[in-house]
Amino acid sequence: MAVGIFDSGLGGLTVLDAVEKRLPDVPFVYLGDNAHAPYGVRDADDVYELTTRGVERLWAAGCDLVILACNTASAAALRRMQESWVPRDKRVLGVFVPLIEALTEREWGDNSPPREVQVKHVALFATPATVSSRAFQRELAFRAIGVDVEAQSCGGVVDAIEEGDMILAEALVRSHVDALKRKMPNPQAAILGCTHYPLMQNIFQDALGPDVQVYSQPNLVAESLADYLTRRPEMLGEGTAKQFLTTGDPKRVSARATQFLRREITFEQA
Ligand code: DGL
Repeated sequence: MAVGIFDSGLGGLTVLDAVEKRLPDVPFVYLGDNAHAPYGVRDADDVYELTTRGVERLWAAGCDLVILACNTASAAALRRMQESWVPRDKRVLGVFVPLIEALTEREWGDNSPPREVQVKHVALFATPATVSSRAFQRELAFRAIGVDVEAQSCGGVVDAIEEGDMILAEALVRSHVDALKRKMPNPQAAILGCTHYPLMQNIFQDALGPDVQVYSQPNLVAESLADYLTRRPEMLGEGTAKQFLTTGDPKRVSARATQFLRREITFEQA
């Protein structure tokens, strides 16, 4: 009954942590493509190739349902995968949907015309690839009107986190928030549109100020997955073992993961 969680590297662990707490009986198989991170500076074809390879590995581990705990893969590859690649008995879901649902206060399947929502000025922090895909703005525009989105492409943050250089990561986050504020001085809400960023959530909140509501994905994704599995219990795959897999160096990745989640995590070679 395993479910797969995929990310380019360590960021998806923020989602894994939340889904494990919400669904303690489900064994999750995590795959970090650390050998190829970051994805945020790659083109869409490259992200598609790497993501499909990772998802196939998780299917082989007995996971019929895979969550792309990666906004870059969700923005650059998911639609193409769902339209022409995912077989009927498998599912691949992204991390955008729960975020847009929370922001627009409506369910994904609600096809009524777009309407006004509470938040009018939204800052989006994401990787260069996610920002240039404009996937977030596109999905939002189907559902909400009058929302001004200012996107800040946060170059370097994922690399610094993957390297474990949190001092550099903090300096970069503060400079990206400054850059955003020059374009949008008073955002009401901020979206952390990369699963690596919740590891820096306190810094984002501090730099943005206490009046800005920061939306971060892990808990939203966990709630949404719990709801999905209640409706589609047959999507729990046949795998039974909890596993951490990486395409990178398992020793190095285990050390970083243990540092981030503050509990012992042991990765194996994918
Ligand atoms: N954590 C991923 C995301 O949510 C990928 C970051 C990257 O590899 O650049 O976008």
